[in-house]
Amino acid sequence: MVQIDHNLSPLPATATQPLIRPARIHDVDQLTDVLTASFYADSGWLQWVHPFMRLSIQEDLKQRLRSQSPRYVCLAAVPTSAEGSGRTPAIAGTAEASLRQPWPWQGDRHVYVSNLAVEQGFRRQGVASALLQSCEHIAQRWQVDELRLHVMEDNRAAQALYRKAGFQTLQAEDTPASWFGLQARRLLLRKHLPPTARPS
Ligand SMILES: CC(C)(COP(=O)(O)OP(=O)(O)OC[C@H]1O[C@@H](n2cnc3c(N)ncnc32)[C@H](O)[C@@H]1OP(=O)(O)O)[C@@H](O)C(=O)NCCC(=O)NCCS
Repeated sequence: MVQIDHNLSPLPATATQPLIRPARIHDVDQLTDVLTASFYADSGWLQWVHPFMRLSIQEDLKQRLRSQSPRYVCLAAVPTSAEGSGRTPAIAGTAEASLRQPWPWQGDRHVYVSNLAVEQGFRRQGVASALLQSCEHIAQRWQVDELRLHVMEDNRAAQALYRKAGFQTLQAEDTPASWFGLQARRLLLRKHLPPTARPS
């Protein structure tokens, strides 16, 4: 089980389960580790580019965290026990939520979820589901009733997660790499939030 800090306030000292809280700048190294390990293989020839990918992820994340934009939140799932991989990393998972308010002809106002990743040893324990739930809570606080995100068409684990969480496909998007069969297509998924769930 995962606890969600719905007020997104700091972790209570008595917590014994992972808790979702806003990430802070001092979390950047741990968040970078989770993201890099989740999205980039560290074997074969890829091990040579791994440090560069890590640096790039770290610098981008630092920039976003320092921006302190009221339309952006980076979440951290914090384990408080030694479950999972045997060691206890400071961060078990992460996700980012940003308010997107396109021009009227570009679609609806929505919260875009990105960089959802869970450390290997903490998977299948509901951490990603709890992060998505926190994103929904943030959307409701921002008075937005739709979440959107992209997932690669061949990412079966993430697709299963999103379908279970109630997301549906809005459109499939080709990229230059997918045209040449070098990469799968991207799917844009969305989830409508019930208006009754909005705070009064
Ligand atoms: C996808 C990912 C975020 C899932 O995180 P997680 O914390 O393990 O997910 P949850 O425990 O909340 O899973 C909820 C449900 O999603 C589905 N699911 C999650 N991982 C799955 C897998 N590997 N295979 C099949 N279904 C899976 C299951 O229905 C699961 O419910 P269940 O465990 O009761 O069967 C994680 O595997 C990950 O970080 N992957 C690498 C990064 C990534 O692909 N991110 C998504 C980018 S779009």
